[in-house]
Amino acid sequence: MQRYAIIGHPVSHSVSPKLHNAAFAAVGLDCHYEAIDIDPADLGDGIASLRSSGIAGFNVTIPHKKGILPLLDRIDDAARAVGAVNTVVHRDGVLTGYNTDIHGFRALIAPFEKAVNGGTVGILGAGGASRAVLHVLTTSFTPRRIVVLNRTTERAEEIAGEFSSSPVPIVPESLFQDELQELVSGLGVIINTTSVGMKPYTDASPLEQIDFRRDQIVADLIYTPAETALLKAAKEAGATAVGGLEMFLQQAAESFRLWTGKEVNMRKLWEGLE
Ligand code: ATR
Repeated sequence: MQRYAIIGHPVSHSVSPKLHNAAFAAVGLDCHYEAIDIDPADLGDGIASLRSSGIAGFNVTIPHKKGILPLLDRIDDAARAVGAVNTVVHRDGVLTGYNTDIHGFRALIAPFEKAVNGGTVGILGAGGASRAVLHVLTTSFTPRRIVVLNRTTERAEEIAGEFSSSPVPIVPESLFQDELQELVSGLGVIINTTSVGMKPYTDASPLEQIDFRRDQIVADLIYTPAETALLKAAKEAGATAVGGLEMFLQQAAESFRLWTGKEVNMRKLWEGLE
């Protein structure tokens, strides 16, 4: 039996074991996927022991998506560009890192290509997820401008600097400023990559007391809950609200493809689990 896992800290809440074990069963593979909690201080030892255990592959979640890079043998170009790895393949003694969040976000945003191309896109947050979103928006789409809004403005400036060679102008902004309403009103597409509004703090929104327009598209990468406070407010204003479940399922499908070469319908499996 081949072993797979998700590593993170904390990780016990992850639904990935259920989803991937259902996927392995669906394609008839004798594999098992488990959650392994690794403290950031023990990441080096943790990866060494996964390596020697002969694990076939694993997902990487918060807070290890960046820290794992120097511990891998090879890193896929896109994952390196984003600076974050969420999937590792262990083959012939070689650990290779990928970022399937890129694939997931591309799938989430693809239906809104018309609004993205030529439009002004706002990204809330300046962490790893924000970098994956920026990578997709600047390589697979042609927005006129991207505004990165973050609580810590320096981090928004840092990320804008990292992507300064992209053909799309990237403007760093503070999420806490007097002109926030005006700024948000100028955005055609808004994407939340912060953790604000995630379970159990479901009443919180990264854009409190902001009015949305009917023609805006508001996407949230959070999928627990399915409808965040941000999406609820957007929906109430008549805007298009897009939850993060599609991205989660598509990144999982891409990880599964990298490990097994097989296609699975993650949405169907997810609905079965629910
Ligand atoms: P990830 O890799 O998932 O993107 P991260 O690198 O920890 O995670 O980034 C988390 C993002 O959520 C950051 O943009 C963070 O803002 P700061 O850079 O100011 O820390 C944002 N974030 C987290 N909690 C927040 C809060 N309560 N209000 C506003 N932004 C918050």
